[in-house]
Amino acid sequence: MSYDLVVIGTGPGGYVCAIKAAQLGLKTAVVEKLSTHGGTCVNVGCIPSKALLHASEAFVAASHALPDLGVEVGKPKLNLKKMLEHKVKTVEQNTKGLDFLMKKNKIDVLRGVGSIAGKGKVTVKADDGKEQTVETKNIVIATGSDVAGIPGVEVKFDEKVIVSSTGALDFAKVPDSLVVVGGGVIGLELGSVWARLGAKVTVVEYLDTILGGMDGEVAKQFQRMLAKQGFDFKLGAKVTGVAKSGKGARVTFEPAKGGEAETIEADAVLIATGRKPYTEGLGLKEAGVELDERGRIKTDGHLRTNVEGIYAIGDVIAGPMLAHKAEDEGVAVAEILAGQAGHVNYDVIPGVVYTSPEVASVGKTEEELKKAGVDYTAGKFPFTANGRARAMLQTDGFVKILADKKTDRVLGVHIVGFGAGEMIHEAAVLMEFGGSSEDLARTCHAHPTMSEAVKEAALATFAKPIHM
Ligand code: FAD
Ligand code: NAI
Repeated sequence: MSYDLVVIGTGPGGYVCAIKAAQLGLKTAVVEKLSTHGGTCVNVGCIPSKALLHASEAFVAASHALPDLGVEVGKPKLNLKKMLEHKVKTVEQNTKGLDFLMKKNKIDVLRGVGSIAGKGKVTVKADDGKEQTVETKNIVIATGSDVAGIPGVEVKFDEKVIVSSTGALDFAKVPDSLVVVGGGVIGLELGSVWARLGAKVTVVEYLDTILGGMDGEVAKQFQRMLAKQGFDFKLGAKVTGVAKSGKGARVTFEPAKGGEAETIEADAVLIATGRKPYTEGLGLKEAGVELDERGRIKTDGHLRTNVEGIYAIGDVIAGPMLAHKAEDEGVAVAEILAGQAGHVNYDVIPGVVYTSPEVASVGKTEEELKKAGVDYTAGKFPFTANGRARAMLQTDGFVKILADKKTDRVLGVHIVGFGAGEMIHEAAVLMEFGGSSEDLARTCHAHPTMSEAVKEAALATFAKPIHM
């Protein structure tokens, strides 16, 4: 069989690339080693974690927020089995949807492990050992990423007591105590799920801040909010050992700057210290495809590797490990292959942490602007001064807008608050069009909405907000 394009891996990068390519008239096949499409995101990442985040948030709302609104429901009872079933059903609906989309777009699905077998050739080895080799004008590698573990520390994941994110999506019982190694996105999202359901969660983080790389002011305020929800934080603490002990596990850590080691025991430990590109078994060395110093496939501005006809997208290349970044790269490559001008604007990729409240950001942080010596103005508006937020008892958090002092162009927007992950997109659209904070402040916003805080923060960069 001969194709215009074979995509290896059907996570959000790969399946989106294949659909777009098929829509643009390219004869397309995908290779996937799992029995379902959707990759990390749909099977063990974005989708199941959001199902549990939503369900556990509802559990907390039933205990606190609803009575405060005058809705007495009595003490809520957790049915963890049902909550986990909701997660499984959500994943199934999504994977079935992807099967449908493959058929609808007439994309051939080749099940098995794909590897590059020379110029324009992909070999697919199925579970039963059968092999087939297909010919193709172009190959897109979209094999994603895998759990990184802790460099220099031996961690024996059993996915029951010592777990990665995958095990933390599936505890059969709420652990009484959970240590989370790594105060990044996974640690705080999945830590939130189990904290809401009753676990005592302690986060051990190497840096002096949680959510390293996010705007510092946002991260600080957010940490205070999580502390109020019962999280304990050990910051500036480097984990040096994780081992089973009795029915639980023991985590050893020492001050990042050096000093005496400490240990904590817990029923379970979630290791959330990042992910690494997944390139195993692809035959990259033989094909001559270059990797960078962190094992990621090297690509140029057009997502081409150094080998003609081979492209790479998503978590397996540089950039933020986000599903929507992978998707946009998938679309860009398909467009490039169809002779169009595919492009990804890496300056405007929103990031959302789906906690309660949510944290969302797009563009530069204050720290990045300072470091780059950019003269900027900052406008802030708290949700305590927003009518809708008060009506919903969702007054925690604020919107912060950073604009170029000379041109007023918006350079970064950071929101911590209820619905931040939806609100951030008006900022993303504005920034995509090179808009100014005055453009944002002069755009009529419906009342009463949380989004009015975005408008007010924009106003605060060059004038005074109205409601403060
Ligand atoms: P992947 O989704 O990893 O897909 C790669 C696919 O390739 C897999 O299906 C794999 O089986 C297949 N594959 C690998 N090698 C081969 C081979 N040789 N042959 C055949 N098939 C192969 N991102 C967000 O934007 N929002 C979120 O809310 C979010 N939540 C997350 C929560 C968790 C717990 C985790 C772990 C991640 C989360 N992410 C989130 C990150 C997101 O999942 C990844 O950025 C995204 O899945 C990357 O997409 P990808 O297509 O590059 O790779
Ligand atoms: P991360 O990179 O966000 O956080 C890992 C944290 O672990 C860092 O803060 C790091 O300093 C810390 N760490 C590393 N080694 C340590 C040690 N020895 N001791 C203590 N702390 C240590 O990685 P995470 O949370 O594992 O997520 C992986 C990827 O998945 C991220 O790139 C993220 O973008 C993506 N993801 C995105 C989500 C979203 O968009 N909502 C949700 C979940 C994951």
